[in-house]
Amino acid sequence: MYFIANWKMFGSLNSINSLNKVDHFLKRFKKNRFVKIIVCPPSTLINPMHKKFKKTLIRIGAQNCHENENYGAFTGSINSRMLKNAGAKFVIIGHSENRRSGETNKLINLKIKSALKSGLKIIFCIGETIHEKRKKITKKVLIKQIDLGLSGIKTKKDIIIAYEPVWSIGTGVIPRERDLEASIEFIKKRFRKNKVLYGGSVNPKNILKLKSINNIDGFLIGAASQDPKKFIDIIKKTYN
Ligand code: 13P
Repeated sequence: MYFIANWKMFGSLNSINSLNKVDHFLKRFKKNRFVKIIVCPPSTLINPMHKKFKKTLIRIGAQNCHENENYGAFTGSINSRMLKNAGAKFVIIGHSENRRSGETNKLINLKIKSALKSGLKIIFCIGETIHEKRKKITKKVLIKQIDLGLSGIKTKKDIIIAYEPVWSIGTGVIPRERDLEASIEFIKKRFRKNKVLYGGSVNPKNILKLKSINNIDGFLIGAASQDPKKFIDIIKKTYN
């Protein structure tokens, strides 16, 4: 199972210490290579967290990158090569919060290609809006996001898919069990060998329901992952 923490634009140097609690808890999984913990903090914390946790089970990821893997005059941007150099092993690409501010499938495709070139693994986010759900075009939207996002990428082994219905992010609402199962299965059919995760309002209260979804390989967790107690609780309850 994967537990990926997306801290979004939260966290300071002090938050590194709060991750110690998670590290301490994870010691019980030391010999269990099937538990994968990836923390994606803001870029400012990637290197200090990488240094602090490199000998632990916690892997560090980034939340986005520029599409150009070479250096260039792009004020304010960070590319995948820099993220890799800072210690990131993964990068989230295609998050709906970035799609909403103008990131197209085409741009996402370029970002994924550049991140793969830099040697990062991809956490590729897809998901329908509430409007698309109401129009019953979820599958159509997912196919389009997948086909355009991964266009021209032959080797997909370094790509994890995170299905995040936009309407469930930060709302406390999760999909109905059978809807989620259907979406996960639909994605799995296209990517038999890839891990498929769910994201959107995952918390210690609903994890028992979510973990029982067929074929689910883990979770991409926002708000609850910023609180070490809740993050630990989610992992604990998955295995109890
Ligand atoms: P929440 O868990 O806060 O709903 O966020 C989910 C998310 O966007 C993870 O990428």
